[in-house]
Amino acid sequence: MDKLEHLAYGMVDSQFRLNCKNMVAINPENLSLRLNVRTLGRVFEHRKELAGYYMANQEACQSLVDYMTEQTTRIIYGLNQFVNLTRQDSRALKVLYWKLVRATIDALDSVRFFETFKENLSNIVVRHSSLLRHFLLAIHDSDLISSGNSHPIVCMEYSPALQLQLLGVNVSNLREPILDIGCGTNGQLVRQLRAWGYDAHGVDRSVIDHPHLIQSDWSDFPWIHEAWGTIVSHMAFSNHFNHHHLRTNGQPGVYAKTFMDILKALKRGGSFYYAPGLPFIEELLPGDKYRIIRVRDEMQKGFYSSQVVRLE
Ligand SMILES: C[S@@+](CC[C@H](N)C(=O)[O-])C[C@H]1O[C@@H](n2cnc3c(N)ncnc32)[C@H](O)[C@@H]1O
Repeated sequence: MDKLEHLAYGMVDSQFRLNCKNMVAINPENLSLRLNVRTLGRVFEHRKELAGYYMANQEACQSLVDYMTEQTTRIIYGLNQFVNLTRQDSRALKVLYWKLVRATIDALDSVRFFETFKENLSNIVVRHSSLLRHFLLAIHDSDLISSGNSHPIVCMEYSPALQLQLLGVNVSNLREPILDIGCGTNGQLVRQLRAWGYDAHGVDRSVIDHPHLIQSDWSDFPWIHEAWGTIVSHMAFSNHFNHHHLRTNGQPGVYAKTFMDILKALKRGGSFYYAPGLPFIEELLPGDKYRIIRVRDEMQKGFYSSQVVRLE
C-alpha cells in the first residue's frame, strides 16, 4: 500500500477503534461519534499530499468509501444478526461515506494551522455522527436495534465437529460439491472439509478473503439447478427463515422462495442439511420429490435439525 493510503487507512482505523465501543453499545437515538486526535499530527504534516492524491484518484476514494461501509455494516450486523441492510440501505450508507471523504479532503486542502484543522475535523465527525444516527433510524430493520431491543443478538461461529454433529452429517456419505450457506466469516467447516479432501465452498454476507468463500447474500446467490451434491447450513439460513416466519414485519415469502431455489440447486439424490428445522415449510414439500429426515438433539428439547433429500 502506498504511504499516503497507509496514512489515510490508519486514520480511518483509529476512528473505528475509538468509536467502535460507542457503536456496540449503540442506541441509535443518541449515537455520538468522537474524533481520535492521536493520528492527526502525521495526517496534518502530509495534508497537502493527501488531499492532492485523493482529489486526483476517484478509485482510491471509492476503496476508502467501500472499506468504511464494510466496517460499519459489520458493526451493525454485530448488534443484531437478524438485521439485514437492504440494497437501498447499503447505497445510502455509501453516500454517507462519500460525503465524509469529500468533506475530509476539503478540510485537508484548506487549512494552515493544526488547531483549525482539528476543529474542522471535529465538526465533520459531529456532522457524520448525526447523518449516521439518522441513517440507523431510517433503515428497514431499525426496530431491531432501537433502544427497546438494545441487547446484542450475536452471531457465533461453531467448531466443525459441533456443526456436523448437530446437523447429523455422516461425513463419509457426503456428495460433492458441497456448499455451506451462511458459513461464517472464517468458513471453518468449509476449511475442515477441504482439509479432508472434499470439494467444499462457502457463501456468507461476510467472509474473509479466501478462494473458496464467496461473499454474497443468500437471496442474491446464483442458485444453479442441480449444481450441488450437498448443501449445509448450520444456525444460519433456517435460523433466519424461522425469524422472518415469526416476526410481524418479516419477509417469509423471500425466504420460502430461496428455500425452494436451494432445494432445486441439489443434484438428484443430494441433501440439504440445516439446523434448526423448519416444520412450517417441511410439511408442505411434496413427498414424491423430497424425503425429510429429522435429527433431534437429546440435550436441547424441541430443537431438531433436518436433512431434505432430493429424490432421484
Ligand atoms: C450464527 S452464524 C453461523 C455460522 C456458521 N454456519 C457456524 O455455524 O459456525 C450465521 C451466519 O449467517 C450469515 N448470514 C446472516 N444473514 C445472511 C444473509 N442474508 N446472507 C448470507 N449470509 C448471512 C452471517 O454472516 C453469519 O456468518
